[in-house]
Amino acid sequence: MGNMTGNYEGVDSWETIMLLYNSALKEIGTKLEILNNEFQHVHQYNPIEHIKSRVKTPESIVKKLKRRGYESTIENMVKYVNDIAGIRVICSFTSDIYRVAEILANQSDINVLSIKDYIKHPKESGYKSYHMIVTVPIFLSDGVVDTKVEIQIRTVAMDFWASLEHKIKYKYEGYAPEHIKRELFECAEMVSDLDAKMMSLNEEIRGVAAEHGADDREREKQKREAERTLLKERFYGEAE
Ligand code: GTP
Ligand code: MG
Repeated sequence: MGNMTGNYEGVDSWETIMLLYNSALKEIGTKLEILNNEFQHVHQYNPIEHIKSRVKTPESIVKKLKRRGYESTIENMVKYVNDIAGIRVICSFTSDIYRVAEILANQSDINVLSIKDYIKHPKESGYKSYHMIVTVPIFLSDGVVDTKVEIQIRTVAMDFWASLEHKIKYKYEGYAPEHIKRELFECAEMVSDLDAKMMSLNEEIRGVAAEHGADDREREKQKREAERTLLKERFYGEAE
């Protein structure tokens, strides 16, 4: 059926579809949580600040289909609405965004359908974020269904900007006054500057931390060697 690949014919009811999308969000959410925990364990560092996920409301799905000139059928929504399951991953630094995106994309059960890098190519509004549409297999009792999820990955600052811009757009129903658009765009540039500065500061302190780590390890080694020498001297001293 449509983009629900995997030769599975049983996907016909609204309830089944919603079960699939909710399950897909859980799968991706768990993958991200595991990644974050592993990073904490191995690098003492969390690339992910927090995660938000949502399933699109029926009203919103119907509205989107209508806007694009499609009839409101289950087949059309599965085929043409890519963001029924949406997950937003908020990172501290821009470098984390690419790290998380790459690791996810390389997982063998994740299939990347499309990528939009609005960080390298911001929208006219100033909007920045990294978008991926992926599918993840959902195992049901009688079949596997590859289910689509829209993943938006952005920094805390980009997210802050996008929330305000969304609120403003909503308030003016898409037609905000020019000066507001201009100021929002200026804010987007400030967000980029902030992200760049925060990232380079972070890199600098991580460099210092690594040096300290190396110093600490060297001191530990010398201490252990001194202890061994002392033990040896005592042992041979008494034995001789
Ligand atoms: P939609 O039909 O809006 O989903 O857009 P699309 O199918 O062309 O995909 P795109 O990747 O451009 O946008 C997907 C989602 O990103 C949107 O639903 C929003 O959540 C978010 N987004 C995209 N552009 C903007 C923007 O200018 N401002 C804000 N605040 N969010 C945006
Ligand atoms: Mg959308």
